[in-house]
Amino acid sequence: MAVRLVFSRKTLAQALTPALRHCRGVTTFTLPDLPYDYGALEPAISGEIMRLHHQKHHQTYVTNYNKALEQLESALSKGDAPGVLQLQSALKFNGGGHVNHSIFWQNLKPVSEGGGEPPHGSLGWAIDKDFGSMEALVKKINSEGAGLQGSGWVWLALDKEQKILKVETTPNQDPLVTKGANLVPLLGIDVWEHAYYLQYKNVRPDYLTNIWKVINWKYASEVFDKESA
Ligand SMILES: [Fe+2]
Repeated sequence: MAVRLVFSRKTLAQALTPALRHCRGVTTFTLPDLPYDYGALEPAISGEIMRLHHQKHHQTYVTNYNKALEQLESALSKGDAPGVLQLQSALKFNGGGHVNHSIFWQNLKPVSEGGGEPPHGSLGWAIDKDFGSMEALVKKINSEGAGLQGSGWVWLALDKEQKILKVETTPNQDPLVTKGANLVPLLGIDVWEHAYYLQYKNVRPDYLTNIWKVINWKYASEVFDKESA
């Protein structure tokens, strides 16, 4: 059941398909490779942060998601309804961690490969229409990301029903889909301390200011064009 929910969006399916494997009849996930070297986003994000974030934090979500999926399969096979329900929190947290980070890696790009170059074409026009300007959008995302209490994510989303762009936040590892099935993630920024503390200490606003230098607007534009067609 959880796997079907994860694959309800084409873009996520494309992001996660290479990381799928099958183990004892249960569909499980593997850590996806980064499309760049750990140090390639410096100086905006240090190589040390990227290595730990990917190899330790994301790997832990994958490991624990797989464990919960195997426990879910076992509980389902026994008809253990309370056991199924008991797993929902672990599935949401670890599955969300895997889904969110899989998007996050694609949202980043080295400057030498075009990271930070603002979007042209339809996404650029949509940003101007819905937020006034790129500067206004960045200001709104930085403000909501800095203001998010505790750990979580700030998103640029396409609302497919209303056909507008929105800025949303989610707590912990809740994926964007928890705010509405009609929301497609174009850009997700991780504001957990593990994403910036080694370099920026407790100054989350500085991390948010600098991350725009390595944002992969090409990816966001491709998702936008596909989902708004
Ligand atoms: Fe993270």
